Amino acid sequence: MAIGVFDSGIGGLSVHHALVGRLPDADFVYLADQANTPYGGRTGEEIVDLTRAGCERLFDAGCSLVILACNTAAAVALRRLQQTWLPGYRRALGRPVNVLGIIVPTIEAATGLPWEHEAERRGDKVEQLDVLGIFSTPATTRSRVYEIEIDKRRQDVAVFSEPCPDLARLIEQDAPEAELRAAVEGHVAALSRRIGRPPDRAILGCTHYEITAALFRDALPPGTPLIHQPLATAEAIEVYLARHPEFEPGTRGGRRFLTTGRPGAQNGLVSRFWGEPLTFDPA
Ligand code: DGL
Repeated sequence: MAIGVFDSGIGGLSVHHALVGRLPDADFVYLADQANTPYGGRTGEEIVDLTRAGCERLFDAGCSLVILACNTAAAVALRRLQQTWLPGYRRALGRPVNVLGIIVPTIEAATGLPWEHEAERRGDKVEQLDVLGIFSTPATTRSRVYEIEIDKRRQDVAVFSEPCPDLARLIEQDAPEAELRAAVEGHVAALSRRIGRPPDRAILGCTHYEITAALFRDALPPGTPLIHQPLATAEAIEVYLARHPEFEPGTRGGRRFLTTGRPGAQNGLVSRFWGEPLTFDPA
Protein backbone atom coordinates (compact mmCIF):
# COMPACT_ATOMS: atom_id res chain seq x y z
CA MET A 1 0.00 0.00 0.00
CA ALA A 2 1.04 3.63 -0.34
CA ILE A 3 0.20 7.12 0.90
CA GLY A 4 -1.54 9.40 -1.59
CA VAL A 5 -0.96 13.14 -1.58
CA PHE A 6 -3.45 15.30 -3.45
CA ASP A 7 -3.47 18.92 -4.59
CA SER A 8 -4.87 20.92 -7.47
CA GLY A 9 -1.31 21.37 -8.68
CA ILE A 10 2.28 21.67 -7.51
CA GLY A 11 1.50 23.32 -4.15
CA GLY A 12 0.99 20.03 -2.31
CA LEU A 13 4.61 19.19 -3.07
CA SER A 14 5.48 21.41 -0.10
CA VAL A 15 3.57 18.99 2.15
CA HIS A 16 4.85 15.97 0.24
CA HIS A 17 8.43 17.15 0.80
CA ALA A 18 7.89 17.30 4.57
CA LEU A 19 6.13 13.90 4.55
CA VAL A 20 9.04 12.27 2.70
CA GLY A 21 11.40 13.81 5.28
CA ARG A 22 9.48 12.19 8.16
CA LEU A 23 8.62 8.89 6.43
CA PRO A 24 11.50 8.20 4.02
CA ASP A 25 10.70 4.48 3.61
CA ALA A 26 7.00 4.92 2.88
CA ASP A 27 5.69 4.63 -0.70
CA PHE A 28 4.04 7.81 -1.98
CA VAL A 29 1.83 8.64 -4.95
CA TYR A 30 1.36 12.36 -5.60
CA LEU A 31 -1.55 13.53 -7.75
CA ALA A 32 -1.77 17.05 -9.16
CA ASP A 33 -5.13 17.91 -10.69
CA GLN A 34 -3.52 20.34 -13.09
CA ALA A 35 -6.29 19.93 -15.66
CA ASN A 36 -8.54 21.76 -13.21
CA THR A 37 -6.19 24.03 -11.27
CA PRO A 38 -6.67 26.50 -9.65
CA TYR A 39 -9.45 25.41 -7.29
CA GLY A 40 -9.53 28.66 -5.32
CA GLY A 41 -12.09 30.42 -7.54
CA ARG A 42 -14.35 27.38 -8.04
CA THR A 43 -17.72 26.67 -6.44
CA GLY A 44 -18.04 24.35 -3.45
CA GLU A 45 -19.76 21.68 -5.56
CA GLU A 46 -16.94 21.69 -8.11
CA ILE A 47 -14.30 21.44 -5.40
CA VAL A 48 -16.12 18.50 -3.76
CA ASP A 49 -16.49 16.63 -7.09
CA LEU A 50 -12.88 17.21 -8.14
CA THR A 51 -11.52 16.23 -4.74
CA ARG A 52 -13.55 13.01 -4.70
CA ALA A 53 -12.28 12.13 -8.20
CA GLY A 54 -8.69 12.76 -7.05
CA CYS A 55 -9.13 10.51 -4.00
CA GLU A 56 -10.62 7.73 -6.13
CA ARG A 57 -7.68 7.94 -8.52
CA LEU A 58 -5.23 7.63 -5.63
CA PHE A 59 -7.09 4.70 -4.06
CA ASP A 60 -7.07 3.04 -7.52
CA ALA A 61 -3.30 3.56 -7.57
CA GLY A 62 -3.01 1.43 -4.41
CA CYS A 63 -3.14 4.09 -1.69
CA SER A 64 -4.75 3.33 1.66
CA LEU A 65 -4.54 6.85 3.04
CA VAL A 66 -4.96 10.09 1.06
CA ILE A 67 -3.71 13.40 2.41
CA LEU A 68 -5.45 16.44 0.97
CA ALA A 69 -2.36 18.65 0.70
CA CYS A 70 -4.61 21.48 -0.40
CA ASN A 71 -6.29 23.92 1.98
CA THR A 72 -9.06 24.61 -0.50
CA ALA A 73 -10.01 20.93 -0.88
CA ALA A 74 -9.60 20.29 2.85
CA ALA A 75 -11.61 23.37 3.88
CA VAL A 76 -14.45 22.93 1.40
CA ALA A 77 -14.69 19.19 0.64
CA LEU A 78 -13.12 17.05 3.36
CA ARG A 79 -15.90 16.94 5.94
CA ARG A 80 -18.53 16.39 3.27
CA LEU A 81 -16.58 13.51 1.68
CA GLN A 82 -15.87 11.91 5.06
CA GLN A 83 -19.54 12.05 5.99
CA THR A 84 -21.35 11.25 2.76
CA TRP A 85 -19.04 9.44 0.37
CA LEU A 86 -16.22 7.68 2.18
CA PRO A 87 -18.21 5.18 4.33
CA GLY A 88 -19.99 3.65 1.29
CA TYR A 89 -16.87 3.79 -0.86
CA ARG A 90 -14.87 2.03 1.85
CA ARG A 91 -17.52 -0.72 2.11
CA ALA A 92 -17.58 -1.19 -1.67
CA LEU A 93 -13.78 -1.35 -1.83
CA GLY A 94 -13.61 -3.88 1.01
CA ARG A 95 -10.40 -2.52 2.51
CA PRO A 96 -9.58 0.24 4.99
CA VAL A 97 -9.08 3.63 3.33
CA ASN A 98 -9.19 7.12 4.75
CA VAL A 99 -8.82 10.76 3.71
CA LEU A 100 -7.15 13.33 5.99
CA GLY A 101 -6.53 17.04 5.57
CA ILE A 102 -3.99 19.64 6.55
CA ILE A 103 -6.19 22.05 8.44
CA VAL A 104 -6.43 20.13 11.72
CA PRO A 105 -2.62 19.93 12.20
CA THR A 106 -2.28 23.57 11.16
CA ILE A 107 -4.84 24.67 13.75
CA GLU A 108 -3.13 22.57 16.40
CA ALA A 109 0.19 24.25 15.52
CA ALA A 110 -1.39 27.73 15.50
CA THR A 111 -3.20 27.32 18.83
CA GLY A 112 -0.67 25.10 20.60
CA LEU A 113 -3.66 22.94 21.61
CA PRO A 114 -4.85 19.49 20.58
CA TRP A 115 -7.81 19.42 18.17
CA GLU A 116 -10.12 17.93 20.83
CA HIS A 117 -9.58 20.97 23.03
CA GLU A 118 -12.37 23.51 22.93
CA ALA A 119 -11.98 26.47 25.24
CA GLU A 120 -14.62 27.24 27.77
CA ARG A 121 -16.15 30.58 26.83
CA ARG A 122 -15.39 32.97 29.66
CA GLY A 123 -16.41 36.58 29.66
CA ASP A 124 -12.99 37.76 30.85
CA LYS A 125 -11.46 40.59 28.95
CA VAL A 126 -8.50 39.43 26.88
CA GLU A 127 -5.54 41.61 27.78
CA GLN A 128 -3.35 40.94 24.81
CA LEU A 129 -4.43 39.83 21.37
CA ASP A 130 -2.18 37.73 19.22
CA VAL A 131 -2.97 38.77 15.65
CA LEU A 132 -2.70 35.89 13.20
CA GLY A 133 -2.76 36.58 9.46
CA ILE A 134 -3.87 33.88 7.02
CA PHE A 135 -3.08 34.08 3.32
CA SER A 136 -5.32 31.73 1.34
CA THR A 137 -7.38 31.16 -1.79
CA PRO A 138 -10.78 32.87 -2.02
CA ALA A 139 -12.59 29.53 -1.46
CA THR A 140 -10.63 28.86 1.75
CA THR A 141 -11.18 32.44 2.93
CA ARG A 142 -14.93 32.12 2.25
CA SER A 143 -15.10 28.89 4.27
CA ARG A 144 -13.86 30.85 7.36
CA VAL A 145 -12.46 27.55 8.62
CA TYR A 146 -9.44 29.13 10.32
CA GLU A 147 -11.49 31.87 12.01
CA ILE A 148 -14.11 29.39 13.26
CA GLU A 149 -11.78 26.65 14.48
CA ILE A 150 -9.23 28.96 16.13
CA ASP A 151 -11.95 31.01 17.80
CA LYS A 152 -13.38 27.83 19.37
CA ARG A 153 -10.04 27.19 21.06
CA ARG A 154 -8.33 30.50 21.73
CA GLN A 155 -10.00 33.78 22.59
CA ASP A 156 -6.69 35.57 22.69
CA VAL A 157 -5.96 34.97 19.00
CA ALA A 158 -7.57 37.25 16.42
CA VAL A 159 -7.57 35.81 12.89
CA PHE A 160 -7.52 38.01 9.80
CA SER A 161 -7.70 36.28 6.41
CA GLU A 162 -6.45 37.71 3.15
CA PRO A 163 -7.73 36.10 -0.06
CA CYS A 164 -5.09 35.96 -2.80
CA PRO A 165 -7.16 35.23 -5.93
CA ASP A 166 -4.36 34.94 -8.47
CA LEU A 167 -1.34 33.75 -6.56
CA ALA A 168 -1.72 29.95 -6.90
CA ARG A 169 -2.23 30.36 -10.66
CA LEU A 170 0.90 32.54 -10.96
CA ILE A 171 2.96 29.97 -9.02
CA GLU A 172 1.52 27.11 -11.08
CA GLN A 173 2.50 28.98 -14.26
CA ASP A 174 6.01 29.81 -13.01
CA ALA A 175 5.43 33.57 -13.32
CA PRO A 176 8.57 35.75 -13.18
CA GLU A 177 9.84 36.34 -9.65
CA ALA A 178 9.21 40.10 -9.91
CA GLU A 179 5.53 39.43 -10.62
CA LEU A 180 5.24 36.96 -7.73
CA ARG A 181 7.04 39.36 -5.40
CA ALA A 182 4.73 42.25 -6.34
CA ALA A 183 1.65 40.06 -5.77
CA VAL A 184 2.88 38.86 -2.37
CA GLU A 185 3.84 42.41 -1.29
CA GLY A 186 0.39 43.62 -2.35
CA HIS A 187 -1.37 40.96 -0.24
CA VAL A 188 0.81 41.57 2.81
CA ALA A 189 0.20 45.32 2.53
CA ALA A 190 -3.57 44.83 2.08
CA LEU A 191 -3.79 42.58 5.14
CA SER A 192 -1.67 44.94 7.26
CA ARG A 193 -3.90 47.87 6.23
CA ARG A 194 -6.99 45.96 7.29
CA ILE A 195 -5.50 44.99 10.65
CA GLY A 196 -4.00 48.44 11.18
CA ARG A 197 -0.52 46.91 11.54
CA PRO A 198 1.28 43.79 10.31
CA PRO A 199 0.18 40.46 11.83
CA ASP A 200 2.17 39.02 14.76
CA ARG A 201 2.28 35.59 13.08
CA ALA A 202 1.11 34.21 9.76
CA ILE A 203 -0.05 31.02 8.09
CA LEU A 204 0.55 30.46 4.40
CA GLY A 205 -2.87 28.83 4.10
CA CYS A 206 -2.45 27.61 0.54
CA THR A 207 0.18 24.98 -0.09
CA HIS A 208 1.31 26.74 -3.27
CA TYR A 209 2.42 29.78 -1.23
CA GLU A 210 4.87 27.66 0.77
CA ILE A 211 6.90 27.20 -2.43
CA THR A 212 7.43 30.99 -2.42
CA ALA A 213 7.69 31.33 1.37
CA ALA A 214 10.86 33.44 0.99
CA LEU A 215 8.80 36.17 -0.72
CA PHE A 216 6.36 36.24 2.21
CA ARG A 217 9.27 36.39 4.68
CA ASP A 218 10.68 39.38 2.75
CA ALA A 219 7.32 41.18 2.66
CA LEU A 220 6.44 40.66 6.35
CA PRO A 221 8.39 42.46 9.10
CA PRO A 222 11.67 40.63 9.77
CA GLY A 223 11.29 37.67 12.11
CA THR A 224 7.49 37.33 11.77
CA PRO A 225 6.91 33.66 12.67
CA LEU A 226 5.31 31.59 9.89
CA ILE A 227 3.39 28.55 11.11
CA HIS A 228 4.82 25.76 9.03
CA GLN A 229 1.87 23.85 7.66
CA PRO A 230 3.86 21.09 5.85
CA LEU A 231 5.88 20.22 8.94
CA ALA A 232 2.83 20.28 11.24
CA THR A 233 1.02 17.97 8.79
CA ALA A 234 3.93 15.54 8.41
CA GLU A 235 4.29 15.23 12.19
CA ALA A 236 0.55 14.61 12.59
CA ILE A 237 0.49 11.96 9.84
CA GLU A 238 3.43 10.13 11.40
CA VAL A 239 1.56 9.96 14.72
CA TYR A 240 -1.66 8.91 12.93
CA LEU A 241 0.09 6.06 11.10
CA ALA A 242 1.65 4.79 14.32
CA ARG A 243 -1.86 4.63 15.83
CA HIS A 244 -3.50 3.14 12.73
CA PRO A 245 -1.44 0.19 11.46
CA GLU A 246 -4.34 -0.74 9.14
CA PHE A 247 -3.12 2.06 6.81
CA GLU A 248 0.10 0.37 5.86
CA PRO A 249 2.30 3.02 4.16
CA GLY A 250 4.68 0.69 2.28
CA THR A 251 8.39 0.17 2.85
CA ARG A 252 10.13 0.62 -0.52
CA GLY A 253 10.48 4.41 -0.54
CA GLY A 254 8.54 4.55 -3.82
CA ARG A 255 7.75 7.97 -5.34
CA ARG A 256 5.21 8.37 -8.16
CA PHE A 257 4.04 11.71 -9.47
CA LEU A 258 0.82 11.86 -11.49
CA THR A 259 -0.98 14.72 -13.18
CA THR A 260 -4.35 15.12 -14.84
CA GLY A 261 -2.71 17.90 -16.88
CA ARG A 262 0.31 17.93 -19.14
CA PRO A 263 2.73 15.14 -18.17
CA GLY A 264 6.48 15.61 -18.15
CA ALA A 265 8.82 18.02 -16.41
CA GLN A 266 7.36 20.50 -13.96
CA ASN A 267 8.23 24.17 -13.77
CA GLY A 268 11.50 25.66 -12.51
CA LEU A 269 10.02 26.65 -9.14
CA VAL A 270 9.45 22.94 -8.47
CA SER A 271 13.06 21.99 -9.24
CA ARG A 272 14.38 24.80 -7.05
CA PHE A 273 12.02 23.94 -4.21
CA TRP A 274 12.38 20.14 -4.41
CA GLY A 275 16.13 20.20 -5.14
CA GLU A 276 15.88 18.25 -8.40
CA PRO A 277 13.57 18.21 -11.44
CA LEU A 278 10.41 16.12 -11.12
CA THR A 279 8.70 14.34 -13.98
CA PHE A 280 4.97 13.67 -13.79
CA ASP A 281 3.16 10.73 -15.47
CA PRO A 282 -0.35 10.97 -16.86
CA ALA A 283 -3.01 10.22 -14.26
N1 DGL B 1 -2.71 24.57 -3.12
C1 DGL B 1 -4.10 24.67 -2.89
C2 DGL B 1 -4.46 25.18 -1.51
O1 DGL B 1 -3.73 24.88 -0.58
C3 DGL B 1 -5.00 25.11 -4.01
C4 DGL B 1 -4.69 26.33 -4.79
C5 DGL B 1 -5.72 26.48 -5.90
O2 DGL B 1 -5.89 25.53 -6.65
O3 DGL B 1 -6.34 27.54 -5.98
O4 DGL B 1 -5.45 25.81 -1.31
